[in-house]
Amino acid sequence: MSLLQGKKILLGITGGIAAYKIPLLVRALIKQGAQVRVIMTPAATDFVAPLTLSVLSQNEVLSSFTTPGKDHAVWTDHVALGAWGDLFLIAPATANSISAMAHAKCNNLLMATYLSARCPVMIAPAMDLDMYAHAANQKNLATLAAQGVHVLPVASGPLASGLSGKGRMLEPDALLSELETFFGHTAPLKGKNILITAGPTYEAIDPVRFIGNHSSGKMGVALAKQAQQLGAEVTLIIGPTAIDLTTLSCQVTSVTTAQQMQEQVMAHYAATDIAIAAAAVADYRPKIRMDQKIKKNNQDFQTLELVATPDILAEMGAQKTHQFLIGFALETTDELAHAKNKLKSKNLDAIVLNSLQDPDAGFGHDTNKITYIDKDGNSTPFDLKSKDAVAKDIFSQILKNYA
Ligand code: C5P
Repeated sequence: MSLLQGKKILLGITGGIAAYKIPLLVRALIKQGAQVRVIMTPAATDFVAPLTLSVLSQNEVLSSFTTPGKDHAVWTDHVALGAWGDLFLIAPATANSISAMAHAKCNNLLMATYLSARCPVMIAPAMDLDMYAHAANQKNLATLAAQGVHVLPVASGPLASGLSGKGRMLEPDALLSELETFFGHTAPLKGKNILITAGPTYEAIDPVRFIGNHSSGKMGVALAKQAQQLGAEVTLIIGPTAIDLTTLSCQVTSVTTAQQMQEQVMAHYAATDIAIAAAAVADYRPKIRMDQKIKKNNQDFQTLELVATPDILAEMGAQKTHQFLIGFALETTDELAHAKNKLKSKNLDAIVLNSLQDPDAGFGHDTNKITYIDKDGNSTPFDLKSKDAVAKDIFSQILKNYA
């Protein structure tokens, strides 16, 4: 069941260009079984049509204090609106509206509803990079956060001004995840600490070259988001990746080498309830890291001498006390047998096998095809799916085993 099933979402839209993306969010929320009521500032109605939002939300869209009645205007009860919602999400939240919220300026229906709302409030800021970074705006955001408003991060990238930087509203799917995370705090993994390793590691040969692999970190990030949606406290330890980690709201530690990943993992391990090792850790590193770039014609460097990196997962297995430990196996031959051996030799509770045999599965792809193998050797194969859907499958299996 979706975490959003039956949830009442009051959705405030203020006048920024990112408003054009909100119909997609409304559609996704309705699809997940949520009820949605939309309130817009007058400026927002210039950016996105109220009719679109009313069709998608299956509710009347409100933007003024009164609506014309038979003989005279009828008052819109903003207090009742504020009492209706389980959560009030304001997205996009412009600098102007953030300022109005911070200063209790009741200049439109949305602000009146905000000031009278009793439910939790979440805002997704959206503005130009300099406006976002401006000390006055940051002060307003800090004021709201101190008052208990959930202030979401912004994403980096191209802005309507033509500039590029921090200020973009989170995309509708990221907003959806934030809402799921919010409602997930009453969910099955509430209070559990989950440690996830992800991405590749890079082992330096010299200042410009390294030994690495094609891991993108996408599977580990999908697992981290899913764990959060189930209410867990998530620590993600991730190697070099192109993924924008600034939009994640879990604890993220970026590392480069296997050694650094091991240090970070072991620092968190004692307090961990469930650990998932999705990282593709380099198995070897150069014995010597050269301080200067190795020249093309350097005859001494025709052969690279390697030493083993720490096997982080094996170390977690050896030191296991109460932790539920899940590894990944990427095999090319005799897959099931190798994965089962790994499960035993590393003292795991489960292992996720992904095969390179499938053209759209594994490294770098947005999709994956897995088989989940539990401690008793029971294997459950799944179809090729998006990595987000795979993460859901993995956690549904974990929840079956994990008391
Ligand atoms: O033994 P192999 O490298 O195939 O095992 C894969 C599993 O072990 C993955 O879960 C991976 O994250 C983990 N691993 C690790 N440290 C290493 C090598 C692998 O944690 N040095």
